[in-house]
Amino acid sequence: MSGVQIMNARMLEGMRRACQLAADTLLMVGEHLRPGMRTDEIDKLVHDYTVEHGAWPSPLNYNGFPKSVCTSVNEVVCHGIPGPQKLKEGDIVNVDVTSYLPKTDGYHGDTSATFYVGEVSEEARHVTEVSRQCLELGISVVKAGARIGDIGAAIQEFAEAQGCGVVRDYVGHGIGREFHTAPQIPHYGAAGSGKRLKGGMVFTIEPMINAGHWACKVDQDEWTVRTADGSLSAQFEHTILVTGAGSEVLTARKALLRQSEDRPFAKLGPKSCPASLTGT
Ligand code: MF3
Ligand code: CO
Ligand code: CO
Repeated sequence: MSGVQIMNARMLEGMRRACQLAADTLLMVGEHLRPGMRTDEIDKLVHDYTVEHGAWPSPLNYNGFPKSVCTSVNEVVCHGIPGPQKLKEGDIVNVDVTSYLPKTDGYHGDTSATFYVGEVSEEARHVTEVSRQCLELGISVVKAGARIGDIGAAIQEFAEAQGCGVVRDYVGHGIGREFHTAPQIPHYGAAGSGKRLKGGMVFTIEPMINAGHWACKVDQDEWTVRTADGSLSAQFEHTILVTGAGSEVLTARKALLRQSEDRPFAKLGPKSCPASLTGT
């Protein structure tokens, strides 16, 4: 007994529904996002959409979190609290949606993405695209029999080759009837280390990637996490089911995310770090 839940078909049915709602919510946010919007307008959109679909926004009142979604702008790494802050042209903002769907036995689905507010700097684009690709790379090594450390190793190797830092203080997590449960999924580490993955395990992969050093600090509000060096930070998150063949992305989207995935970008090579980040 590893202590990690193995989900059966019925549980997975509930997970798929909660995860699909979270994915649809993120698509909806992309339709509405624009410069000048306050982050608490995003919160209202997410709250209302979630409730209209018979669900509850998991962040609301979770360990005292005061809002229905996390909105993390620029150097905010994660857990940004929506408020009066207006998004301005050139900002990047991560929107992290978690939906709890009580009608299918009560499962949580967790997914996030970083959006571009208008035109952004080369550096903002770089850290965002590195984090997007880090999530894809992490997912690509998931398979029954692989080890948890394989995920972090794939992510860390790529991010650091791109001149970016991988946040260590916050990790991916098991998810199901609870929001955060075993196992922990670090986004750094050594291949071949850690517990073996088994078919039916469900967890998130959610690399937080900094344009500078990986170190973080937490604001006095005890939620808002910022890069210690003030550098930009970006994140993408999916909820993943381990299968024998590889994985199923439970929070996969039905369409491209507006203000993010619809921006054409060159697939990053193994080492395509802009000079502004390497200092060369
Ligand atoms: N959704 C975040 C995660 O990916 C957790 C947010 S906790 C909250 O794990 F309380 F800030 F909402
Ligand atoms: Co999340
Ligand atoms: Co998560």
